[in-house]
Amino acid sequence: MSQQVLISAQDLKKYFPVKGFLGGKTKYLKAVDGVTLDIMKGETFGLVGESGCGKSTLGRTLIRMYDVTGGKLSYQGKDITNAKPSEMKEFRNKMQIIFQDPYSALNPFWNVEEILSEPLAQIGMGAGERKERIEYLLNKVGMKPDDMLKFPYEFSGGQRQRIGIARALSVNPEFVMCDEPIAALDVSIQAQVVNMLEDLQHEMGLTYLFAAHDLSMVRYISTRIGVMYLGNLVEVAKSDNLYDRPLHPYTQALLSAIPIADPRAAKKRKRIKLQGELPSPMDVPQGCRFAPRCPYATEQCKTQRPELRELESGHFVACHCAEKFAD
Ligand SMILES: Nc1ncnc2c1ncn2[C@@H]1O[C@H](COP(=O)(O)OP(=O)(O)O)[C@@H](O)[C@H]1O
Ligand code: SF4
Ligand SMILES: [Mg+2]
Repeated sequence: MSQQVLISAQDLKKYFPVKGFLGGKTKYLKAVDGVTLDIMKGETFGLVGESGCGKSTLGRTLIRMYDVTGGKLSYQGKDITNAKPSEMKEFRNKMQIIFQDPYSALNPFWNVEEILSEPLAQIGMGAGERKERIEYLLNKVGMKPDDMLKFPYEFSGGQRQRIGIARALSVNPEFVMCDEPIAALDVSIQAQVVNMLEDLQHEMGLTYLFAAHDLSMVRYISTRIGVMYLGNLVEVAKSDNLYDRPLHPYTQALLSAIPIADPRAAKKRKRIKLQGELPSPMDVPQGCRFAPRCPYATEQCKTQRPELRELESGHFVACHCAEKFAD
């Protein structure tokens, strides 16, 4: 794998304004609050964390579906933090998204041909060429040319997701935000869709950001994994390192919930039970955001926010006490 940075985020922030009641002060929901991250060309960067921790918002901000509240964002070295829609034109097709819920992501009144034609027409492709391209795309995602005339409701969830994938790939992107693309699918077909995404990645030279709240699957498809908690990345490591040597108590807690087949490995593993609820991103705790739920929290943790630091080569963690967990 080449080590070229495709997307770079520095201290990236995305806040959503929330109006106060009866003309009260506007507050901010800090969905992404200071994420620093380089995504390398050709890799699959897995993004894990509980529902509501900011995975979708981070992915959508990285592809500039959302405006950036703060920090810096660049694509292949070009600063796109504040790029206007006209300036984003050259990047639009390069960055695509596959949504979690394929049904709500597809226009129910359009047939597959119309759904897939739209992005192609936008890049100026003529009708004849479009038809050929749509046949090619349907074939790529394991569907038949006849499916072109059918409507979303005529398909199963898995097939709908295949259409969503075909649409994302129609304009030859370089980077695809896969936003929990299998979470809404039947367990029996999840592996098929993941395998297909992997095949397409190799064939088309794609870079993925793959968000998931289920840790067991991302291990096998990700080059590296980032663990998110309340709008922050708390740990980033190569996939195997993260599973074999989780250094952040939150990662340890997430992994504790996954059964291990090997009894020796299971015995060695620290078990941490997650206490309490995810706090509101409207009211984030001072200091370490995980402190209210962390069994190791100290006085320092409650007041001083831990920075993401490289504790071992390529293994980053945001915890004051991570050294203690490294032995
Ligand atoms: N468009 C939006 N407007 C306001 N709040 C939002 C919006 N999108 C997400 N949020 C809030 O931001 C936080 C992070 O959400 P999200 O990025 O969807 O997390 P995840 O994908 O990890 O489940 C949540 O508290 C969510 O309610
Ligand atoms: S910094 Fe403190 S509270 Fe936060 S995860 Fe580490 S030990 Fe727990
Ligand atoms: Mg999400």
